[in-house]
Amino acid sequence: MTLVIDINKDNFNNAINTASEIIKGGGTVVFPTETVYGLGADALSSEACGKIFQAKKRPADNPLIVHVSNFDMVKQVAEINDDLLIKMRKIWPGPLTLLLKKKKIVPDVVTSNMDTVCIRFPDNEIALALIEKTGPIAAPSANIATKPSIVDSSDAIKELDGRVDAIINAGRVKYGVESTILDVTCSPYELLRPGAFSLEDIKKLLGDVHIDSVAWGYKESSKALTPGMKYRHYAPSKKLILIENNQKFQEFVQSDLSMDFIALCSMENAAYAKYDKFILGNDIYEVAHNLFYYFRMLDSSDKKFGVIQSFPENGMGFGVMNRIRKASYSIIKDKENIDNINNVLNEYR
Ligand code: TXA
Ligand code: MG
Repeated sequence: MTLVIDINKDNFNNAINTASEIIKGGGTVVFPTETVYGLGADALSSEACGKIFQAKKRPADNPLIVHVSNFDMVKQVAEINDDLLIKMRKIWPGPLTLLLKKKKIVPDVVTSNMDTVCIRFPDNEIALALIEKTGPIAAPSANIATKPSIVDSSDAIKELDGRVDAIINAGRVKYGVESTILDVTCSPYELLRPGAFSLEDIKKLLGDVHIDSVAWGYKESSKALTPGMKYRHYAPSKKLILIENNQKFQEFVQSDLSMDFIALCSMENAAYAKYDKFILGNDIYEVAHNLFYYFRMLDSSDKKFGVIQSFPENGMGFGVMNRIRKASYSIIKDKENIDNINNVLNEYR
């Protein structure tokens, strides 16, 4: 049985107490952060963390992020020096996760036997109040493995009822894409995953950053992908087709008459999408906010495909495009392939 914990201004402390008792008792609680919902358990208990892997069907070799609510907790779980502490004070709380050397107190199950640990100090009052009471909480995104991350508690209830001990019913999260992950054990620092904290802000606050080509979300970024090359992650079950060239996206969504797809587009492109469409928003914050939510709506629709446009890759756009590419069944990127959009889709029709 999963307990759904409603939370509002009037019952805030009671709700947090209920959730924290479950965590302290070795149970699992789905809770909001400013990015996406997390599926949390006591980070210092192997047994409790084992339940996270079970609940979301996560392979054991995929490590968990440890969430903290103050700097003493950071020191409890990871090795940091004074220089790093000064930097952390500039960025936390916020959606930037740092990869650090772990301390022994963190069980191996959390880090998949590695000697590093990802630390996150979320900027969400529910998460912070909860962690303050329980101590460090290990939590991956709350979705079942490979599915899109969960950004609304109603989706958490649909997906995880019966699989976790409790779900905090706190509605929609602020950002909608996961935190940015930065490895600070090397020099220069290395970006492991773009996300809600922009690269521009990292450079401003922490200095130069090395970016591995995989951060863009292509499987092999040096090679143009051909349609049909499949890799998915954060993915809807329906096939998502990304058309990177905006003009071709516009042409396709106004000319294709098969009506077996939903166009996922910006407000600007909405007029071109004559048939079914999900308008992701006016700016990149709205797009991020709605992206995973609409991936789930696509899955519950009666259409066969989602056809999505690309967005500029500055600010949060970097993380958004990484998620869109990883979620796409097919990426139509090359000029020669663009001329064949219909052929590509017909392959799947
Ligand atoms: O916004 C977020 O970061 C959300 C909320 C709940 O905090 N969490 C999240 O966790 O996105 P998850 O588990 O879905 O993604 C964390 C990523 C995974 O790809 C995992 O492999 C990687 O971080 N990771 C965790 N610990 C690591 C480690 N020690 N070394 C390398 N990668 C690590
Ligand atoms: Mg995840």
